[in-house]
Amino acid sequence: MTIVHRVLFPHPIVDLDEYLARGGGKGLEAARQSGPETLIAELEAAGLRGRGGAGFPTGTKWRTVAANRSSMFPTTVVVNGAEGEPGTFKDRTILRNDPYQVVEGALIAAQAVGANTVIFGLKRSFGEEVARLQSAIDEIVAAGWAQGIEIEVFEGPNEYLYGEETALLETIDGRYPFPRIAPPFRRGVTEVVATVGDTTSGSGLSAHVEMAGAGSDQVAPPTLVDNVETLANVPRIIARGAAWFRTEGTEKSPGTIVCTVTGSTRRHGVGEVQMGTPLREVIEAIGGGPHPGRRIRAVLPGTAQGFITEDQLDTPVSYEAMAAIGSGLGSAGFIVFDDTDDLVAAAAGVSRFLSIESCGQCTPCKQDGLQLAGVMDKLSRSQAGAHDMAILHKRVGTVADGARCYLATQHQNVLSSLLAAYPDEVEAHVAGTATGVTPALIAELVDVDGGQATWDERHREKQPDWTYDAEYSGKVPAERYGEHRAHQTLPE
Ligand SMILES: Cc1cc2nc3c(=O)[nH]c(=O)nc-3n(C[C@H](O)[C@H](O)[C@H](O)COP(=O)(O)O)c2cc1C
Ligand code: SF4
Repeated sequence: MTIVHRVLFPHPIVDLDEYLARGGGKGLEAARQSGPETLIAELEAAGLRGRGGAGFPTGTKWRTVAANRSSMFPTTVVVNGAEGEPGTFKDRTILRNDPYQVVEGALIAAQAVGANTVIFGLKRSFGEEVARLQSAIDEIVAAGWAQGIEIEVFEGPNEYLYGEETALLETIDGRYPFPRIAPPFRRGVTEVVATVGDTTSGSGLSAHVEMAGAGSDQVAPPTLVDNVETLANVPRIIARGAAWFRTEGTEKSPGTIVCTVTGSTRRHGVGEVQMGTPLREVIEAIGGGPHPGRRIRAVLPGTAQGFITEDQLDTPVSYEAMAAIGSGLGSAGFIVFDDTDDLVAAAAGVSRFLSIESCGQCTPCKQDGLQLAGVMDKLSRSQAGAHDMAILHKRVGTVADGARCYLATQHQNVLSSLLAAYPDEVEAHVAGTATGVTPALIAELVDVDGGQATWDERHREKQPDWTYDAEYSGKVPAERYGEHRAHQTLPE
């Protein structure tokens, strides 16, 4: 059985009574009997790693946040439900099926790090998930589970960067989703951090810089930011123990992972598998494998990591195995390409998406990124000459220079993997002999329903200044929105 059911039940849990009948609530009950140290130690022993993309050990994060508590200000838990990675729909599926486990996990996290507020960061466009989550919160609060902990749902903008954790905190603080320079453990949901002008980005723009550091409790407490799926795993770990959690998965990537499969497969879908399951098996089980008569030629794990090639399809779905082949697990959103797909066009789609979504606080990320997207567009239409190819190679090398967040490195990862793994395909585009079919738009998913993924078609009209105007203003988002305080005026 490839598909398993730990955090993703085969059908939606209808209400808190059903959740309780299925064993829900036991994690919080157990957490109430134990202190923060026991909870954190259990998480560390379980080896749970953050499912938002980076795979950072959750127990380590909780321990650091708890250790850096402020004596003046309360800590906050922020649940990252901003899901915008192209090809990923797992957090929204989890929230639709069982939001109760996520709320329970967040309440356990709050207890472990001493937080008095939990904020769920979703998007205004996630109407169904927001409604489902809010009614689960209402039921849980009415049942007395919150015990004084405030739970809020924040509805943010559609921008991809809103999911980057420091940008998420910026947005909750009332600003635009522009990443901060910060360590992995973030200061501040409330604006009590000192800010200084930033000179490291190369943009010359003033930006917020956290003056955080261990022991600086005169400023703001650290905020714990955990992904939806990460927290969905927590109640069972606390109720059943670390050893139980480790009965599935690998030594370095214990447990299960909720994967999304889209692209050139018989169907699209979201399903949960044990960590360590070969990628080919995951694509078979969730996506039904390639279309009849076709073969899988490449897989992109979202827009963060390089192409996984045909001969790497048996790589286990785990953080360590994906890193060992030079790619990465990301948020386990696998976009599949078959032997008729044009991989240069696919990479051009990624380049376009990332260059538009870049906020422009770092000049190379935005300007080299836009130049890369322009060249990739030309290349995909077989109109790139030697000069364009020279720009492509040069800018792939510079796009991530001085980058404040990981987005610029994502751009570099995807394009350098195309150049390294598919030189013949790139050459065919230069020579004008390429025959592949342009795959679907690379953008956020709007839905995955009835075996069919829907992409955000509106992204085709999005300009690099984050407007949907007919013409690009030439201004980067950080310039255009930098002076404004409120995020509400961002285009929908
Ligand atoms: C450009 C960008 C977009 C991101 N989008 C998301 C997102 O939509 N949801 C998410 O949980 N993490 C996202 N992340 C990762 C978060 O920054 C962060 O690592 C995560 O919320 C931490 O939670 P975890 O440890 O539970 O994974 C993004 C990162 C980057 C660089
Ligand atoms: S790397 Fe790119 S997206 Fe990230 S902060 Fe800099 S300009 Fe913005």
